[in-house]
Amino acid sequence: MRPYVLLVASVAALGGLLFGYDTGVISGAILFISKDFSLPTHLQEFTISVVLIGCILGAAVAGTVADRIGRRLTLLVAGIIFLIGALVSAFTPTEGVLLAGRFVVGIGIGFSSVVAPLYISEVAPANVRGALVSLYQFAITVGILGAYIVDYVFARGGDWRAMLGLAVVPSLILIVGMIVMPESPRYLFKIGHDSRARDELTRIAQTGDDSEREERSIVESLKVKSPGFSAFKAPAVRLALFIGVTLAVLQQVTGINAVIYYGPQIFQMAGISSASASIFAQALVGTVNVLMTLVAIFLVDRVGRKPLLYVGLSGMFVALAALAVAFTQPHLTGSLGTIALVSMMVYVGCFAFSLGPIVWLLISEIFPLPARGLGMSMSTLANWVGNFLVSQFFLTMTNKLGRPATFWIYGVLCIVTILFVRSMVPETKRELLEQIRVRPA
Ligand code: BGC
Repeated sequence: MRPYVLLVASVAALGGLLFGYDTGVISGAILFISKDFSLPTHLQEFTISVVLIGCILGAAVAGTVADRIGRRLTLLVAGIIFLIGALVSAFTPTEGVLLAGRFVVGIGIGFSSVVAPLYISEVAPANVRGALVSLYQFAITVGILGAYIVDYVFARGGDWRAMLGLAVVPSLILIVGMIVMPESPRYLFKIGHDSRARDELTRIAQTGDDSEREERSIVESLKVKSPGFSAFKAPAVRLALFIGVTLAVLQQVTGINAVIYYGPQIFQMAGISSASASIFAQALVGTVNVLMTLVAIFLVDRVGRKPLLYVGLSGMFVALAALAVAFTQPHLTGSLGTIALVSMMVYVGCFAFSLGPIVWLLISEIFPLPARGLGMSMSTLANWVGNFLVSQFFLTMTNKLGRPATFWIYGVLCIVTILFVRSMVPETKRELLEQIRVRPA
């Protein structure tokens, strides 16, 4: 792979870093924000969830924006939105302005979650596309872990403004980076800037033959003229949308953010009584999440997307079943507590090399070029709605249905995901983007 391609993908992946950081940082910051502004419970909850409302809105419009002004400029805009959101949140005089700042941050996350994987998959050579889009997921996990660490460091002084404000640094790097990064060659062909597009393809491709082959298939795919939503009249594009939206929802309803957002509470349910020990355990979860994403980076273009999904989802199922069984006991003492802790690590580790990166990868791959921006937008929107529902209702579910039933539901949904992948999802390993076709097996 050319170092140039790695650089382009790494700069775009900063969008993922901010996604992870800004979703993770609030869990520690909220303790001090509520004290400073004397927030009642409902306002505390809203301060946490307002970012997700911004994400939903940002994801809904990002695809259209990326089709209008290009992938590069949209990521640049995302960087500016992140910057404004971080500054407003950090310097806010009131809770109301803080809510506005966090909403703006959410729009930035929504934008980058659509455009960063889309842009990376469009600049990546086919044989390393999986690794490069997984780099985006890697950045998300580093962002989440970074947020836990920053929260921990600033918790002593209760400095929540610094926690929220630190996002300024990666935002600035993203902005400067995207000013100098190239536009996606696929987008350039789409808007008819063929000679610039050709130059970009040659800079990215491994050999001259590769770039010619790629150009032919891009030009061929653009012969179907169907702007905007009319592209979704074609049955194959509708099927891709069904697959994209379903995968995106399944990534959430199998429960990952119950662990990412409520980890410390689950650890306390599992018998770790001190707050600092459960925050430490959560940092371990964050580390497992980062390290196991490397497995995807190394394997996704070698063994393929579907085998990794099968192995990862099976592991997630086993871990959830173990959690469900352990939680049938009212008190998890001794080895049961250990089983619960290990199960959580296994669950997150298995997600990290499968459903985490591969859903973002697949939804950036399965749409034909004319429908890619909108298709990616709608799938990502569904992902954020799923995220919102799981995070809003996790504690209610454990109270109303009980902990075992909650974990069983996530587990059964892992099996549903395996069956869905088997019957509906194409293997896209090493295929040129334009040659990927969805069809039910
Ligand atoms: C998911 C996020 C999740 C993160 C955890 C991402 O792929 O979309 O919702 O928090 O992985 O690493």
